[in-house]
Amino acid sequence: MLPTSAIEMEMAARDRMSAVAYAFYASGSFAETSVVENVTAWSRWYVRPRMGVDVQTINAGTTILGTPISMPVFLAPCGFNNLAHEEGELAVARACAKAGTVQVLSSASGRDPHEVSNASDSPKWYQLYADNDPAVTDERVASAAEAGFEAIVITVDTPQLGVRYRGIADFEAFFNELIAKKIVTPVTTFCDRLDWTELERIASSTDLPVVLKGVLHPDDARRAPDHGASAVIVSNHGGRQMDGSIPPILALPDIVEAADGHIEVYVDGGVRTGVDVLRALALGARAVLIGRPYLWALAIGGEAGVTELLERFRGEITNAMALAGQTDAQRIDPSIVVSASKY
Ligand code: FNR
Repeated sequence: MLPTSAIEMEMAARDRMSAVAYAFYASGSFAETSVVENVTAWSRWYVRPRMGVDVQTINAGTTILGTPISMPVFLAPCGFNNLAHEEGELAVARACAKAGTVQVLSSASGRDPHEVSNASDSPKWYQLYADNDPAVTDERVASAAEAGFEAIVITVDTPQLGVRYRGIADFEAFFNELIAKKIVTPVTTFCDRLDWTELERIASSTDLPVVLKGVLHPDDARRAPDHGASAVIVSNHGGRQMDGSIPPILALPDIVEAADGHIEVYVDGGVRTGVDVLRALALGARAVLIGRPYLWALAIGGEAGVTELLERFRGEITNAMALAGQTDAQRIDPSIVVSASKY
């Protein structure tokens, strides 16, 4: 049911959504340069495929913090999935379970975390927007733990929302209407004093592993394990926070080097094909996350749409691995990817 290219998928989803909801999903911050560059930056890495390899058996499975996933792709936390489809986060939870991957549920979920947790049996992670009041933060973490989420993903790139223009003029009115109709819950709050001390405090307040989402500087990745983090997500929030920031796939190599095997490294932003996934793994990411592609698939086909998207990614990943002479997603040869700027 899904159109083939990422851009056609976005256009088909746009036809099924209100103009304001589409603008909320598609938009970025400031001049939206990062929204575009996140996607185009991947082509700055060329693949040098290996030949002479038996690729009859390909293992695309891996683990993230010890949790097995059937392919190195999981779902980024995106607010208000029910603007795309009435089943929203519940449909996404079921599609992830079917595909054998992890859903990271946004703090700005359109559905109650307990309800999402109960929608399927598969492991899920919870994305946390911390609050300036530690008691509110602790309450969010405790409630996620109680609901059965298995990791806390603290978003560190949002001390406040990035300046946004598209769709935002009427967004507040639109949003208030949704709250009144109980379609979404009121927007979550943010923390603008989220320093390393507070991050460490949050990490030590829970038994769950902590992941920092939104790291772009290698020094931050180097510091992360000293303050209780088990992993980082190299991300610029899909171009919705610091516009003009380095595209995550270009930031990745320095961060992998800085992490030096002490923590796992994942990347998101503009992942659109199985070749992108292969590039990320060759550059040292353990897995990637996808955001907008699953929102478009959800708008087009609900749970079945997300399932189809994930199966498409699986097919593309195994195909890209076969063509590059790679048989194990946990052992991708780093030398198969080179910077285009060298040529
Ligand atoms: C997001 N993102 C996001 N991140 C987060 O930590 N908490 C959130 O609530 C949201 N909400 C959100 C809503 C929408 C509509 C979008 C598009 C994105 C960012 C998201 O987790 C991820 O970093 C990017 O979406 C990845 O980029 P792509 O795949 O959309 O290009």
